[in-house]
Amino acid sequence: MPTFASTNQKLALVMVGLPARGKSYIARKLARYLRWRGQETRVFNVGTYRREHVGSQVSHNFFDPNNAEGVADRMRVAQLALEDMLHWLELGGQIGIYDATNSTSKRRAWIRETCEARGASVVFVETLCSDPTVVDRNVRETKLHSPDYVGVEPNAAVADFIARIAHYERVYETVEDAEGMFVKVVDEGRKVVMHQIDGNILSRVVFFLMNLRTKRRPLWLVRHGESIFNVEDRVGGDSELSPRGHAFARSLAAFMQTRRNDELLSVWTSHLQRTVQTAAYLPEQPVAHRALDEIDAGVCDGMTYAEVRRRFPDEFASRSQDKLNYRYPRGESYVDVIQRLDPVIIEIERLARPILIIGHQGVLRALYAYLMDTPPRECPHLPMPLHTVLELIPNAYGCTERRFPLAC
Ligand code: F6P
Repeated sequence: MPTFASTNQKLALVMVGLPARGKSYIARKLARYLRWRGQETRVFNVGTYRREHVGSQVSHNFFDPNNAEGVADRMRVAQLALEDMLHWLELGGQIGIYDATNSTSKRRAWIRETCEARGASVVFVETLCSDPTVVDRNVRETKLHSPDYVGVEPNAAVADFIARIAHYERVYETVEDAEGMFVKVVDEGRKVVMHQIDGNILSRVVFFLMNLRTKRRPLWLVRHGESIFNVEDRVGGDSELSPRGHAFARSLAAFMQTRRNDELLSVWTSHLQRTVQTAAYLPEQPVAHRALDEIDAGVCDGMTYAEVRRRFPDEFASRSQDKLNYRYPRGESYVDVIQRLDPVIIEIERLARPILIIGHQGVLRALYAYLMDTPPRECPHLPMPLHTVLELIPNAYGCTERRFPLAC
């Protein structure tokens, strides 16, 4: 039985599903999550290859299973994308996500044999959706903006896409147990079925898929107001807000009043005083999460950066060389912080409500890196100024960011 137990093994996550079932959304979200967890991950979207090699403005007839020329062209671009993915895995990639309908068992058998012959294990990720309103929403929210329908009148585009779906429905075969490892996400996560899933990474993948919702809602990231330790330039600790920090907390409450659209927010803080005090002027009852506590500076906790440099010059130099992996003696590294934030990310993906996170510089960098798909290496250096609210509004496949510096 094929398994994926070690991170050295190459993995191909192969999407399966009719058009407009959220495959590309899931593929990109998964890629972002896995990259954030330190796995070299990349999506290979066969639609992109089709647009490049055949053209974007093809009518639904191109996808008719009885159109021999269309079938041959689709197989050709599927081969090109698969070859590129396998080549990329051979060059050091770890997880390739092959994003296409892959709607027949014959097509999937070819993918599995080709991948396994090149040393990559295959897991099928199938999305099933029986709710026509969800399919209709997906068509209108994503397909109408696709390069396939540039300049096409919206109703004509919807009609063409529905005809395209019908071509696939005639030949569609769901993934069966005999096809090996798979996860099926039914009706946007209301039901998840898995088969032969084994190992840490695949367990994380399944858990992520179980919690992934498609509702779009804003999220705000903000550091606590200025603390006494900020004024003294000291790291860590559990100091209170300075008078300026309190002024910021009041400005934040007034600002959120203008952004919340009458909706209740989930407000999360760390369990440290400076974030709890920053939330004190908001109407919501915040929830304090230990996972949101600032990076643990270990033996350097409470020191100024100048003191760290003087007392621990080697540590200071090591941190400057590799800030992502450097772990403070008896403390944490950014990699440790990313790992402990995993449940927070899952909760962000699960909750339908808008969320305001009042956190700390290091922890917010790590959350931001996930939300904005920033490479892990850059994460410890991301600018995260005090007294500035970051508003992240999800769009089709990522987030749009605005920064609001508040007066205080
Ligand atoms: O200085 C404020 C602070 O939140 C410290 O408590 C923490 O150690 C530091 O920022 C994290 O930033 P960096 O990783 O750049 O030192």
